[in-house]
Amino acid sequence: MAKPRVLLTRRWPEEVERQVAERFDVTLNESDEPLSQAELAAAMGEFDVICPVVPDKLPAEVIAGGDRTRLIANYGVGFEHIDLAAAKANGIAVTNTPGVLTDATADLALTLILMAARRAGEGEREVRAGRWTGWGPTHLNGSSLKGKTLGLVGLGRIGIATAQRAHHGFGMRIAYYGRRECLPEVAREFDARFYPDLHDLLAASDFVSLHIPGGAETANVIDAQALAAMKPGSYLINTARGGVVDHAALAEALRSGQLAGAGLDVYPAEPKVPEELLGLDNVVLLPHLGSATRETRIAMGERALANVIAWAEGRPLPDRIA
Ligand code: DGY
Repeated sequence: MAKPRVLLTRRWPEEVERQVAERFDVTLNESDEPLSQAELAAAMGEFDVICPVVPDKLPAEVIAGGDRTRLIANYGVGFEHIDLAAAKANGIAVTNTPGVLTDATADLALTLILMAARRAGEGEREVRAGRWTGWGPTHLNGSSLKGKTLGLVGLGRIGIATAQRAHHGFGMRIAYYGRRECLPEVAREFDARFYPDLHDLLAASDFVSLHIPGGAETANVIDAQALAAMKPGSYLINTARGGVVDHAALAEALRSGQLAGAGLDVYPAEPKVPEELLGLDNVVLLPHLGSATRETRIAMGERALANVIAWAEGRPLPDRIA
């Protein structure tokens, strides 16, 4: 029997590409250029399995582009770029890669907290531009973390891993907002305080870190009102999805001093970064690096592959989301 045809829409770490090639008739994207919507739609008629990445948009029109694909095995945990209802309607299963990028993303949230609090981006730019004039008691003073409150919006896997690092590693107090209270043993581990109201959490936090999924339900959750509710002089960190923040309102809050700083890894229309942020010194801007460690990117590929293998063997899919 012919091997199933599998498309990887972007290059994966070589060792995982090799594993996929050993088991399937795989097509690699040698150029590593993102595929167009027309190319993705055409692929639906040519491949049994498509493994997209987070920036590949798969709306209903693309999903209906062909009738061969039976599995979309997403290389990534977030899936708001895939129309799950359309996939279901077309008899296509969808899987993602939960768990394997938790630590890397929590590490990056801490990177942003530290960079924003200690003005590391500003300092680096100063040194590289030859503008540093030497040590001084008032030079680039930032904020300590110890004893400060980190407010987590969303306490899923990545929120919990961020809380552990911030509390045990840096002595921060932990507060969180979510749809429901977490298990008592989780809250006890880092002495977390639950806020059932988002704006109350924002008002009580020195640093706010976002850990909610993207999509229509969470669009602009951090809007002008939410930013006004934040403690004056506090910091906003986003490693979740760009669409959860109103960036025009954020730029204004950073310009006015309502926020002391922000650290962002994600943007609403990547790779475009909102123009109004580029000129501001008190925001750290990273290019969606949350899961970008070699170990994590290999694990993500292996997790996606495990779903493809389960599908090919007719077993239940370990990470089925539709
Ligand atoms: C994901 O998998 O959703 C991440 O954003 C990729 O880093």
